[in-house]
Amino acid sequence: MTSPNDTTFPSTFLFGAATAAYQIEGAADEDGRTPSIWDTFSRVPGAVLDADNGDVACDHYHRMPEDVALMRSLNLDAYRFSIAWPRVRPDAGAPNQKGIDFYSRLVDELLGNGITPWVTLYHWDLPQALEDLGGWTNRDTAHRFAEYANTVYDALGDRVPYWTTFNEPWCSAFLGYTGGQHAPGRQEGVAGVIAAHHLMLAHGLTVDQLRERGAKQLGITLNLTVADPYDAAEPADVDAARRLDLLWNRVFLDPILKGRYPEELAPHTEGMTFEGKTWQDYVHEGDLALINAPLEMLGVNYYHGDAPAGRPMPSGTDFLGSRIEHPSRPTRLPWPGCDDFTFPRRGLPETGLDWEIQPEGLTRLLTRLKDEYDAPPIYITENGAAFDDVPQTGADGSSLVIDDQDRLSFIDGHLRAIHDAIEQGVDVRGYFAWSLLDNYEWAYGYRQRFGIVHVDYDTQVRTPKASAEWYAEVARTGALPA
Ligand code: NOJ
Repeated sequence: MTSPNDTTFPSTFLFGAATAAYQIEGAADEDGRTPSIWDTFSRVPGAVLDADNGDVACDHYHRMPEDVALMRSLNLDAYRFSIAWPRVRPDAGAPNQKGIDFYSRLVDELLGNGITPWVTLYHWDLPQALEDLGGWTNRDTAHRFAEYANTVYDALGDRVPYWTTFNEPWCSAFLGYTGGQHAPGRQEGVAGVIAAHHLMLAHGLTVDQLRERGAKQLGITLNLTVADPYDAAEPADVDAARRLDLLWNRVFLDPILKGRYPEELAPHTEGMTFEGKTWQDYVHEGDLALINAPLEMLGVNYYHGDAPAGRPMPSGTDFLGSRIEHPSRPTRLPWPGCDDFTFPRRGLPETGLDWEIQPEGLTRLLTRLKDEYDAPPIYITENGAAFDDVPQTGADGSSLVIDDQDRLSFIDGHLRAIHDAIEQGVDVRGYFAWSLLDNYEWAYGYRQRFGIVHVDYDTQVRTPKASAEWYAEVARTGALPA
């Protein structure tokens, strides 16, 4: 019997932390790596705050053993990292042994420290050479991805148990090809839907081929939201929430877990074409069967819910996002057919990016995945928050102290929400804090800090924040403090 205050997690529950290659590695042109779409996009004037790029980032490529030692000191069970395609197959060409060796050393270092490696094959750094051929709007990119995935599996498959194909394909497709907020920065309407299809096709092809090669734990990570109407009494808001769910969650969940696109998608893209064809023309016979391949795990990245309003709001309404500085390049709404959504502030507490803090949304999302989708075992592959950390000098007069109680309680609240879901019967098997280190937050550059470990970008000194010390204790005991 567990008491209502008992927040002990199952003994096999994984407590980990996550990062991604472009956000931490640096060493952008070393050992044969060639440019990815983020190397190119970060140099487009106005695309990224302060024109920051990932050339150096956290210099993890040169500090990997030190970073793994840090993970060990934080008692992490697992580490989720991504592989840079442009290191392993530069320009999407032949395998590059030096690039492969880096990841092989990382995996050995992790295993030597008792940390389970978890690979994400794609965290947004498409080789620029493939973008030059159309990127994710080109069906061939899906086949090239599977080829690259095989190379990685052949090198690491004997030692890495968990394999994620894609991280947040919603962002790659819709921020990359419709909205233009992310690389490659294209604003081509329905091209986003076509990119989404090809990303899912690449996922399906890869699951099929890696399974053939012996992979046992295969999955994909989706960024899912819980969509509520801003005002449940307003039919326009109820409809906006329904559409947001469709265009954000269901566009991936339905094909991957049910083997079909939601019928309601068609009206949102009516009359829209890319290179003279509708997105449906890009869906070939057999694609959906591949996309619907059985999976051993579903990765869920959850940061906040969303409550859209679907009607004109009175002047003076306070909208989310209005208190932070955005990149200056003009961007479009990320989805075709959703240009009447707005996101008025609900009065919830918020993080540094003006993201609302809503842990109970995660419990609802998880129970929905079980009830509506009969989802495979779930891992929370990312959750965390950016806050304006205020480093202080420690009692010894020289060390840094970052007392990030806001981030600590954010993680605590979400772990409690996950625990609630487990008690309601959802099979959740792990949690990865985003992120291990402060890092390159894409279009927001280095200003937004998500790390549980602080990084001084001038010296590259790492300092665990209060949240890291607290999380280390959670990972050690497998329970939340009362
Ligand atoms: C999701 C992405 O996977 C990660 O790269 C990003 O830094 C975090 N969200 C925070 O925005």
